[in-house]
Amino acid sequence: MIADLVRRTRTVRRFQEERALEPALLRDLVELSRLGGSARNGQVLKYMVITDQALRQALFPLLGWAGYLPDWPGPAAGERPAAYVVCLLDKELLKGAESEAHCDLGIATQNLLLGAAEQGVFGCRIGAFAPAVMHRLLQLEERFKVLLVVALGYPAESVVLEELGPDGDIRYWHDAQGVHHVPKRSFEDIILEPSVGL
Ligand SMILES: Cc1cc2nc3c(=O)[nH]c(=O)nc-3n(C[C@H](O)[C@H](O)[C@H](O)COP(=O)(O)O)c2cc1C
Repeated sequence: MIADLVRRTRTVRRFQEERALEPALLRDLVELSRLGGSARNGQVLKYMVITDQALRQALFPLLGWAGYLPDWPGPAAGERPAAYVVCLLDKELLKGAESEAHCDLGIATQNLLLGAAEQGVFGCRIGAFAPAVMHRLLQLEERFKVLLVVALGYPAESVVLEELGPDGDIRYWHDAQGVHHVPKRSFEDIILEPSVGL
């Protein structure tokens, strides 16, 4: 059921690092990104799949993990991602505003993460990185801009959804058992009634 899959498709930041992701699986996930809708059907996104250990090690320190958990430095060695999908904007294909590409990016990465969750693989979108350093590390041509990095792997943590408390605090937290809790606004809080009598 899609509703169940959407509920289960949570951000995971601790992984079974030694458990490799098969190239065919990663290819299938990028394929799901490829099939997503795009503004003007521009298909301005491209992808780089990284599984090589040396490159993963070089990439990891560039990433900002869980900004709401300042005491947590990110996944420890052994719990780091088994793969990354780097999402790139091909500026030479871009005809409209870059904001359109960011909409495409949301669709593409959600397709990818839903497909991954169906296979028991989870991930974390990471937008917190220094673009210039990332560009250099990946030896990208000038036409490409790194928009997002999706970290992937088999999970080594559990994540539960919570209702937002009365204080309205949206920050996720870790409990003493290491379970990750993610508050979500209620349906009532996000729905607006259309004005009548237009
Ligand atoms: C565009 C985007 C950028 C994100 N960037 C980061 C990031 O840099 N570091 C991180 O740890 N999580 C990042 N996240 C993950 C969010 O923190 C996560 O989606 C949020 O806490 C809600 O959890 P959920 O995905 O399980 O609903 C990002 C998510 C999105 C959609």
